[in-house]
Amino acid sequence: MHKLRSLSVARLAEVFNRLSKRLKSTGGRPAAPLGSRILTNHDDIFKHNMWDHVQWTEEDKENAWQKAQENSSVQIPLKEQGKFDTEACQYWDTFYETHQDKFFKDRKWLFLEFPELLPSDAQSRATNRCQDDERAEYPLSGSDRDARQQHSCHTHRHRKTDATDCQESCQMSFPGQHASFRILEVGCGVGNSVFPIVDSIKETGAFLYCCDFSPRAIQLVKDHPDYDGSVCHAFVHDICKEMASFPFPPQSLDVIMAVFVLSSIHPERMQGVVNQLSTYLKHGGIFLFRDYGRYDFSQLRFKKGRCLSENFYTRGDGTCVYFFTKEEVHDLFSNAGLEEIQNLEDRRLQVNRGKRVTMHRVWMQSKYRKP
Ligand SMILES: C[S@@+](CC[C@H](N)C(=O)[O-])C[C@H]1O[C@@H](n2cnc3c(N)ncnc32)[C@H](O)[C@@H]1O
Repeated sequence: MHKLRSLSVARLAEVFNRLSKRLKSTGGRPAAPLGSRILTNHDDIFKHNMWDHVQWTEEDKENAWQKAQENSSVQIPLKEQGKFDTEACQYWDTFYETHQDKFFKDRKWLFLEFPELLPSDAQSRATNRCQDDERAEYPLSGSDRDARQQHSCHTHRHRKTDATDCQESCQMSFPGQHASFRILEVGCGVGNSVFPIVDSIKETGAFLYCCDFSPRAIQLVKDHPDYDGSVCHAFVHDICKEMASFPFPPQSLDVIMAVFVLSSIHPERMQGVVNQLSTYLKHGGIFLFRDYGRYDFSQLRFKKGRCLSENFYTRGDGTCVYFFTKEEVHDLFSNAGLEEIQNLEDRRLQVNRGKRVTMHRVWMQSKYRKP
């Protein structure tokens, strides 16, 4: 058992290092959280495809507000809106029929931004190693480091207790029942996060559940050559259906992840979804969230007539998208009884060097813990 555990840790550290090196080698871009390529000289703007931590000027803010005002000045009549909610599953299923697995890219930033996806021992060792590599360039202040260590100890102590509690109290048999660490990805699509995770958790005792309400997306996940039923269980599930049950008991998950998923859901349903999902987290378990932020380029380029309600739009294919603020994200998770670990706006400047145009991108990245 001990030997197996050390092997797993070694393998995870190796995977983490490999990922971290791969990120570092993409254009020499250092692997710091939310990126670290800072535009200091405006003349350099077309030298890279993306600049990180971009500050908006007052003019940028005013222009963005104006564009959003304009494109939401005509809203789709209420009586025509219902289908975008009731038929959301069909719209997404058709999306996957059209695009198969060719639309979204693998989420390469996954372990760098969300090291919580790795089981605790491997996570702390691999993260330490990664931080050691970067410390020279991005030193943490003493208080940041202490806070991080305290958070890490607190989380792991809770999780261990709950894992034992769950195994003792759960009489029912379920996939991943004997796992020491359980992750759920909701709205997993065709598996752009699933397969990097599966690759990393083999031989660690961890188990990944992944669901989507599109049967086609789930079939594509299951048909993938890297799908491995011994560490992963993919299933069709609509997270808006309150009565739909999950194939694991409440309080059995260490991590829940929603990446560009909650934005697809009607804003009035979001709180119910987060409340419901949170009941499946263990105490100390973490909800990881990444999604579109308010005034992202993709919001501002909507034409008039696609708006459903404030900051909520439908695309030409019938799928919907909401654009969050930091405060809304905070309310969503804290109203569900979770505590903030991180709630950030990831503001970048994307550059099309061929066309010499720039786009302001805004994404939200948040982590909330169940106390
Ligand atoms: C923008 S895609 C993101 C896919 C994936 N998370 C990724 O990062 O590549 C949104 C996904 O959420 C799924 N989705 C939307 N509403 C859902 C719901 N109510 N229940 C389950 N999945 C849903 C869609 O089918 C789609 O696969």
